[in-house]
Amino acid sequence: MIRRSFALGLAGSFVVSRAFADSLVATPAQTEGPFYPTAFPADSDNDLVQVRGVAARALGTVLHLQGRVLDASGKPLNDATVEIWQCDARGFYDHPRQPGRERRDTAFQGYGKVLTDVQSAYRFRTLKPVAYPGRTPHIHLKVATADGRRLTTQFYLAGDPLNERDFVYREAIRDPRRRERIDMRLEPADGMEAAAFATTMDIVIG
Ligand SMILES: [Fe+2]
Repeated sequence: MIRRSFALGLAGSFVVSRAFADSLVATPAQTEGPFYPTAFPADSDNDLVQVRGVAARALGTVLHLQGRVLDASGKPLNDATVEIWQCDARGFYDHPRQPGRERRDTAFQGYGKVLTDVQSAYRFRTLKPVAYPGRTPHIHLKVATADGRRLTTQFYLAGDPLNERDFVYREAIRDPRRRERIDMRLEPADGMEAAAFATTMDIVIG
């Protein structure tokens, strides 16, 4: 009798796993790292390439990063805050723990924050990330939804040879299905900006 109910229990959990398999792969949580801002820049908008009051544009290759914030069933999560931060084109963060911080590109905003629109979409104009010592190119993200969900993660350049040697990336893709959530596939930003790239990355919070 006991054995019989155990078998039934297994059948029940199989049904549950099938239901999960039909839902979207969640964006994996990844470390915040040491460079989340200790003080936010006066200009914290979603254009990191142009700092208000600074004539020069940031050095580097422009990347238009956009997507939606969704739950695991694909439902849009409205009123989500999306923050990104990354190093400049020379590999420097604007952070007290950054060695050589004074050599950073002050025309790069380094951090940006945006609230998702009615379609739960976010959009940033930022830089194609570059490598710095010890890390493959990446963009850090933090997402907070109106219903209290939180996610800290990182996006990477799909196919970058440094990815497979990066300890954070390798941990994130222990489930290989997660690659689609963190690998940015870059395309020319035709019609938006010359010599720039664009990518669409939905953020799925389970
Ligand atoms: Fe980083």
